[in-house]
Amino acid sequence: MIKIAPSVLAADFAKLGDDIESVSTADYLHFDVMDGMFVPNISFGIPVLESVRKATDMVLDVHLMIESPSRYIAMFAQAGADIITFHVEAETQENIISSINEIHKLGKKAGLSVKPETPAITLLPYINSLDLILIMTVEPGYGGQKFSEEMLSKISEVRSIINTREINCDLEVDGGINLETAKLCINAGANVLVAGVDIFNAPDRIVHINKLRNP
Ligand code: DX5
Ligand code: ZN
Repeated sequence: MIKIAPSVLAADFAKLGDDIESVSTADYLHFDVMDGMFVPNISFGIPVLESVRKATDMVLDVHLMIESPSRYIAMFAQAGADIITFHVEAETQENIISSINEIHKLGKKAGLSVKPETPAITLLPYINSLDLILIMTVEPGYGGQKFSEEMLSKISEVRSIINTREINCDLEVDGGINLETAKLCINAGANVLVAGVDIFNAPDRIVHINKLRNP
């Protein structure tokens, strides 16, 4: 089954509670944390996540686009994250392993993400202990960018590794997802689609979420 994860980054933060409610029929709520170092942009962090946690029962899918994320795992878990995904480029191999273990010890799901230029092979040492792999289909940092079709082969490659190893792991894509690119990603093997602008700008968000499940 295809899961849809609306990205809070595209919401109107002055009416965040209403905007979250408007997409609550989706599967996950995607929460993009940016530190102005790992990516050029700065978004929001722990206090906002705490408020969002109080406002919704949705699965909170936290995407950390920050340097040295191991420093913050416990805080994001405490603030209410259900899935904590960080970038393979942002940590040492040792800290990646210890962070995945820490996330699991805290009773949360662990995800690892790759930027467009990072090959799938960098995920291999960790893949058996992951609950989610996030393939960026744009350069992380901003919503509303154009989907990179070059990422489709990486999605297929990771899908075949997951299937061969028979791991229970979501394969998520993020960036430039709309009805057209959703279809390409699903065909390549993705099963979780993040969408920001495409969902929040839709005339009927609930209808659009359903369309994205079966584009
Ligand atoms: C980009 C973020 C995305 C972003 C996607 O760095 O990780 O989650 O919100 O936005 P859209 O769907 O608008 O491309
Ligand atoms: Zn994201």
